[in-house]
Amino acid sequence: MTDTPLIEIRDVSHTFHTESGPLPVLDNLSLSVADGGFCAVVGPSGCGKSTLTRLVAGLMKPDTGSVWLHGEQVRSPRATVGMAFQNPVLLEWRSILRNVLLPLEIVPTKLTRKQQEDRARHLLTLVGLDGFEDKKPSELSGGMRQRASLCRALIHQPEVLILDEPFGALDAFTREDLWQTMHQVKAQEPFTSLLITHDLREAIFLADQVVVLSGRPATSQYVMNVPSTGPRDLEALYTPDAADRLAILRHQIQVAQGRKPARREAAQ
Ligand SMILES: Nc1ncnc2c1ncn2[C@@H]1O[C@H](COP(=O)(O)OP(=O)(O)OP(=O)(O)O)[C@@H](O)[C@H]1O
Ligand SMILES: [Mg+2]
Repeated sequence: MTDTPLIEIRDVSHTFHTESGPLPVLDNLSLSVADGGFCAVVGPSGCGKSTLTRLVAGLMKPDTGSVWLHGEQVRSPRATVGMAFQNPVLLEWRSILRNVLLPLEIVPTKLTRKQQEDRARHLLTLVGLDGFEDKKPSELSGGMRQRASLCRALIHQPEVLILDEPFGALDAFTREDLWQTMHQVKAQEPFTSLLITHDLREAIFLADQVVVLSGRPATSQYVMNVPSTGPRDLEALYTPDAADRLAILRHQIQVAQGRKPARREAAQ
């Protein structure tokens, strides 16, 4: 990991114009993620987190401010971004392997057909899905489908991996399994991550930076750096340090929801 920010969001503001009038969603939001970094974004429901991911992916432009990837301003959709969502939306008429290969039919690639398949099989093995390449999505559990969706997001070796609540629909144990899988994948694939989540434990387990957004229109309300120690053990979530971090983040979320007044935190 270097100190050069790979993702930079500078003073971004955005308002949607809806039938019931203007809806300011983002307000002077700035955020930066180091090359190889893992940033988790948490904030009240409806505050603008998914909107933020669409801006980073170049799927929409902000009214004011700018988004930069690797020092280049994002003005249109980027092939160097991979995305995974809460609902994996795999195509039922394709095998798992062919679902994972799908982005390579859209994004230009220098890989031969054989190399593409080898990479897909490698990723499926990495997430524990070897032997399921020829199954259809409906033959897999929810957690397995989410693993396949992660492989699909990574197949074209994206610089940036955007995860919008990818584990939100899974049960707690499956979710924890996937957190560990994420660490294993991250140790092998050199992407920079932006993770949207409602789960504070997930945020501190996976990320080296947690950004709490305020209520809508969202701005960066609080930033917590989590010392990066590489792959983490689930036990790390039960230490006094983790308990302190979760208490601070929980408080910040309550402030963002307008349920608690802001007060100075003693420690980060
Ligand atoms: N294309 C759009 N047109 C109009 N309003 C929109 C559009 N997209 C999002 N919104 C509104 O903008 C606000 C922020 O939406 P967004 O999906 O970014 O929130 P979020 O933080 O991801 O919410 P959640 O935590 O529930 O996923 C919401 O009030 C939503 O209704
Ligand atoms: Mg959302």
